[in-house]
Amino acid sequence: MKHLLSTGDLDRADAIRILDTAAQMAATQDRAIKKLPTLRGRTVVNLFFEDSTRTRISFETAAKRLSADVINFSAKGSSVSKGESLKDTALTLQAMGADAVVVRHQASGAPHTLAHSGWTHGAVINAGDGTHQHPTQALLDAYTIRRHLVGTGGGTGTSGTGGLGQDLAGLHVAVVGDVLHSRVARSNVELLHTLGARVTLVAPPTLVPVGVEAWTADVSYHLDEVLLDGKPDAVMMLRVQRERMSTAGGGFFPSPLEYTRGYGLDARRLASLPEHTIVLHPGPMNRGLEISADAADSPRAVIVEQVANGVAVRMAVLYLLLAGEHTSVRVDGE
Ligand code: NCD
Repeated sequence: MKHLLSTGDLDRADAIRILDTAAQMAATQDRAIKKLPTLRGRTVVNLFFEDSTRTRISFETAAKRLSADVINFSAKGSSVSKGESLKDTALTLQAMGADAVVVRHQASGAPHTLAHSGWTHGAVINAGDGTHQHPTQALLDAYTIRRHLVGTGGGTGTSGTGGLGQDLAGLHVAVVGDVLHSRVARSNVELLHTLGARVTLVAPPTLVPVGVEAWTADVSYHLDEVLLDGKPDAVMMLRVQRERMSTAGGGFFPSPLEYTRGYGLDARRLASLPEHTIVLHPGPMNRGLEISADAADSPRAVIVEQVANGVAVRMAVLYLLLAGEHTSVRVDGE
């Protein structure tokens, strides 16, 4: 059985294979008829215990573009709100013949439990678990960075080879904001490192996780310094995750205004960056908090493109896990 639970499970060859397959998938998406017959007759279940807009729609679109049958399950409005457990929910889905289960859960480790429980025989794809991992987000971020900054002869154009077959060696990525609560940051640090990029995490000390020394990234508390002296090729802004802060931000930073002053990306900070630098954000954005409207809407921001790339990347992951008998996306478990 093959699963995608964590970017830590991917070696360089696995990651490049997924990114290259995503590029092939993206090429099919310019056609008038976008649907491929690849997963006809297969069933993909989207099992979302936590809110999501982009990720859920993106997985649904990806599965449908590959002609799979899609069952969308969200905890709200289901028997989960009556207290049904992950186990019983999974057994129900198994009875419906799920070939893949895309799971988002508020508990870190829930996809791992599902993958190793025997409750489902399908491939398990982690679509975000607690503060732990969000591997397809990191893959779409890496895909977006590669498309812009590798094999294009520099600049922010999307022409050129888009880096097919290449990794991100030599690039510097700044990941800025609420690292503590961010599964996006964790997944990205691992994947970017695997792909050869250098990562600097930038956050107030209160939003840096304990044990960060063991991560494959540098840590700074000074955004202006990193932007000006570090000359990052990509700046990834993270959402301030107020729903994971028990006292509405009270314990983590003095006030939203002070957070923005210290760690928000605005037009002034944007102007201090090299010309080719791109700006990413996984969404949903808190405009005016971690990113100003003019930064979010600037030509350097590739935030909308990230969403489009997410479909191609998820098509690639579904394809490699469900159809690619001869692929070696990390075999997890058996
Ligand atoms: C992220 C998530 O849910 O982890 N968003 C996403 O998947 N597009 C990041 C976030 O919620 O801040």
